[in-house]
Amino acid sequence: MPEHKTYIVEHLDPELGQWSELEYIAIAEETQRAGNTFMLSSLPEEFKVPEKLERVPAFKAERRGVEELYGEPGKKERVCLLDPQAEEDLNPDDKGVFDVFLFGGILGDDPPRDRTSELRKKGFKGRRLGPVQMTTDTAVRVTRMVVEEQFTLNKIPYLDFPELKFNEHESTQMPFRYVKGDDEKPIMPEGMVDLIKKDADKSIDDLF
Ligand SMILES: C[S@@+](CC[C@H](N)C(=O)[O-])C[C@H]1O[C@@H](n2cnc3c(N)ncnc32)[C@H](O)[C@@H]1O
Repeated sequence: MPEHKTYIVEHLDPELGQWSELEYIAIAEETQRAGNTFMLSSLPEEFKVPEKLERVPAFKAERRGVEELYGEPGKKERVCLLDPQAEEDLNPDDKGVFDVFLFGGILGDDPPRDRTSELRKKGFKGRRLGPVQMTTDTAVRVTRMVVEEQFTLNKIPYLDFPELKFNEHESTQMPFRYVKGDDEKPIMPEGMVDLIKKDADKSIDDLF
């Protein structure tokens, strides 16, 4: 029987922005397809779970933080923090070492501000996913490919800093690493390209 894995994103931003919401829906749906669990932890009291997330059976909303859930000896050793500054890279054998994979619920920033350090302080074992910053849904996707599909990190097809072309005149470059899809495009959550375009249009409008 395949081993059950839990992917936890510890919510670290004060609110759930539209970007994070789309990322979390993508993570929930992919985790559901693989038969595992996706948990958003450390949610504030007033947090309202978006309907599209609530509908996914693999999704769990949790007010408690990861330390309270997995901090005790015996459980703690089975948790892996995906940490851009860890010394060791994630590898397929980690499937047998860890049951829980923990990610920072932080939007990517350029240059990265190392907010994952808030989780590093809690003392979980860390693994890196290579040297380039990924979006949170990409980091979960890559972890799943290594742990569940037994890819080594260097065998995964990536797209680094892809340019998204909206039309003949408008494009934007994303400062992150993505997994390349069968259509040769970066795999992104549904609705993300439209949201990025809307945000880009808004910042142009703000100039006038
Ligand atoms: C968008 S990244 C945020 C990185 C960030 N700028 C920071 O302040 O740490 C969100 C999460 O994805 C995971 N992640 C992204 N890229 C990674 C990498 N190359 N190695 C390990 N984890 C990564 C980490 O768990 C990180 O907290």
